[in-house]
Amino acid sequence: MTRLHAIQANIVTLTVDVIVNAANSSLLGGGGVDGAIHRAAGPELLKECRRLGGCKTGDAKLTKGYKLPSRYVIHTVGPVWKGGGKGEPDLLASCYRNSLAIANKQGFKTIAFPSISTGIYGYPIELAAKVAVDTVSELVQKSSKIEEVIFCCFSPSDLAIYKSLLPKS
Ligand code: AR6
Repeated sequence: MTRLHAIQANIVTLTVDVIVNAANSSLLGGGGVDGAIHRAAGPELLKECRRLGGCKTGDAKLTKGYKLPSRYVIHTVGPVWKGGGKGEPDLLASCYRNSLAIANKQGFKTIAFPSISTGIYGYPIELAAKVAVDTVSELVQKSSKIEEVIFCCFSPSDLAIYKSLLPKS
């Protein structure tokens, strides 16, 4: 059984097998959680990212974690919110699906996600959190060797939303 839970934290402080980055399609860094991850990992991360040739919206790519306490980083590119009629829910679900597929393939046991697309990309948190929790719950039920999925929230209000969607533990 995979344990799903939400916490409030800075994702760069988490000691897990892999943290997920809410990147942009260049994979060359940016603001928000992307900026925090690159600052904490150090310049070697950007060097590795340069070799990846970018990433499409909804896709995900793996790098090492360098100076981070997490061993690896999965970089995924969430959709920019354009009102919800441009495939945003499917693209956001793909971010979670493709990230978990990489984690499963690598045999990672613990993974932490930020709330992808809900900062600079403007996806409403209530809607995005539901996509995140529904997509991850469905996938880990099917087959997963992942032991723990952490939804890492930056604010207390985001944490309250995720907690309302997750089963009480
Ligand atoms: N730890 C955990 N969550 C964080 C952290 C952190 N250190 N910092 C921010 N968040 P955002 P997006 C939360 O804007 O909306 C970048 O420039 C934040 O409060 O980081 O997917 C990229 O390069 C929010 O809940 O990502 C792209 O250009 C969530 O992380 C663009 O932003 C996502 O906010 C991607 O935008």
